[in-house]
Amino acid sequence: MSDPADHPDRNRRKLYGRRKGPKLSPRQVSLRGTLLGELAWQVGPAPKGQFPNTVQDVWLEVGFGAGEHLVWQASHHPQVGMIGAEPYEMGVAKLLTKLEETPLNTVRIHEGDGRDIIEALPDSSLGRFFLLFPDPWPKTRHHKRRFLQMEMLDQLARVLRDGAELRFATDDKSYLPYALERLMAHPAFEWLARCPADWKSRPADWPPTRYEAKAIKGPPTFLRFARRRRAEPSLLAL
Ligand SMILES: C[S@@+](CC[C@H](N)C(=O)[O-])C[C@H]1O[C@@H](n2cnc3c(N)ncnc32)[C@H](O)[C@@H]1O
Repeated sequence: MSDPADHPDRNRRKLYGRRKGPKLSPRQVSLRGTLLGELAWQVGPAPKGQFPNTVQDVWLEVGFGAGEHLVWQASHHPQVGMIGAEPYEMGVAKLLTKLEETPLNTVRIHEGDGRDIIEALPDSSLGRFFLLFPDPWPKTRHHKRRFLQMEMLDQLARVLRDGAELRFATDDKSYLPYALERLMAHPAFEWLARCPADWKSRPADWPPTRYEAKAIKGPPTFLRFARRRRAEPSLLAL
């Protein structure tokens, strides 16, 4: 489902800008034919089965850009299977080049919309979710294209297991309150910040992304939310 036209819901809103950019180098074209085939995520219900059996947890990054954060997380957490979604062809090509230099058999790539993966994942199957500097869609009439919507939070609440972390970063002055308003209103998520330093400074296990290093428009904000514990079924019946 890497092409929006392949999605069963033909009316699904497109959330990202361009897929194609500059021409790929012959090496990048070759890596698409080899490494991307090996590491392609099969959209479907069996996340752990798609990783080596040493993998104990599965994390997802949507919109990985050039993949530097994803590679850092995968290198520092060899027991974690890292899925990355990115529709921009050159972004995927850059990640493939990094993975050729630093082979990581715990990375899987979806060259397409992150929603394809989330919608197909089983309940409580993710240990962490990253959305770092998502496209801000600053015009009010485009806000509905922002990735972080209440319906998306419902989906994330379903696929994240109890205690799992949702990480979000932005430098956009209007996306920040938009995201906070929704995250705070959602009953499944709890903000982990205890003091301003917790959202103003990047945690040690959160490396800067390419966007953050090059294109940032203002001070970034780093949000960490936890998926609250689900209520016990017996308590729900009371
Ligand atoms: C502003 S860039 C930031 C990239 C990277 N996270 C960084 O910080 O360098 C946002 C990225 O999200 C990707 N994107 C937008 N909508 C997406 C979606 N629905 N699923 C996956 N990626 C998406 C875009 O293609 C773009 O590369």
